[in-house]
Amino acid sequence: MLRVFCTWGWAAVVSDDQKQRGKVTVPKVIAAKGSGRRLAMVTAYDYAFATIINGAPIDIILVGDSGGMTTLGYSSTLPVTMDEMIMMAKAVARGAQLPLLVGDLPFMSYETSPVKAAENAGRMLKEAGMDAVKLEGGVAMVPAVEAIVRANIPVMGHIGLTPQSLARLGGFRVQGRDADAAESLVRDARALEAAGAFAIVIEAVPAEVGAMITDAVAVPTIGIGAGPRCDGQVLVLHDLLGLFDRFRPKFVKQYADLGGQARAALASFADEVRAGLFPAAQHCYSLPPGIAEQLEQRQDAADRRK
Ligand code: KIV
Repeated sequence: MLRVFCTWGWAAVVSDDQKQRGKVTVPKVIAAKGSGRRLAMVTAYDYAFATIINGAPIDIILVGDSGGMTTLGYSSTLPVTMDEMIMMAKAVARGAQLPLLVGDLPFMSYETSPVKAAENAGRMLKEAGMDAVKLEGGVAMVPAVEAIVRANIPVMGHIGLTPQSLARLGGFRVQGRDADAAESLVRDARALEAAGAFAIVIEAVPAEVGAMITDAVAVPTIGIGAGPRCDGQVLVLHDLLGLFDRFRPKFVKQYADLGGQARAALASFADEVRAGLFPAAQHCYSLPPGIAEQLEQRQDAADRRK
């Protein structure tokens, strides 16, 4: 293990393996397809978790608009603004240098015009320090993807269950469950690839459809509820760590209970404060020798003058 010194200080603890692999780049992600090494991607929205992920063997951090729900407390991803995404992405970029950093384009930041799409994608790189952007949608989003790629900005696609289209989809539902819908998803993936997307997230589709899409494109697919045949997997960090309990989709595997640990730690803190056990001597500053006596003498003199 070594600590790396970056512009902001001794920010990250990085394993030797991580150091050897170095910065994850778009070409490295593309090369993962067919290499036998699956990609591991998680979301992040702040500096603290970004530094932890930077020291873990994670290939890609997605600053997802899911941060609107997990971190900003919205009930869906729809209200998230470009400025909120930029703020979260900047914090992540300060904490993580090794994984590929992908910034999600929020609802209404790219759908209405390719120029707007390219401009907002540009902000993700120029202001927030991301390496690439992600947007939701298939064939219909081809003009936006092409415009962003023309501006030399790498784009990750996202098909299947696309939470920004929740109103049209009628809720969080598994997608691609009949033959027409499955074929339509394959067309979406091929269109994104042809438009220049370097990777495609596939969300909430039957495992067989995840495999079909993965076989149909030459770029890596990253699944979330899309089965084991995808070229990589992504989970929302707060789901993975047990920090979000408003709802839990079937595809989530919770690897830790940080929420439970945090609640126990807070209860211990409150108990110790009330019992006078915290702070203990080791948490207190003390005066240099002789100063306490000096203060006492001054107090005595003041009392005598009264
Ligand atoms: O915003 C997000 O977290 C996402 C993932 C579900 C892929 O888009």
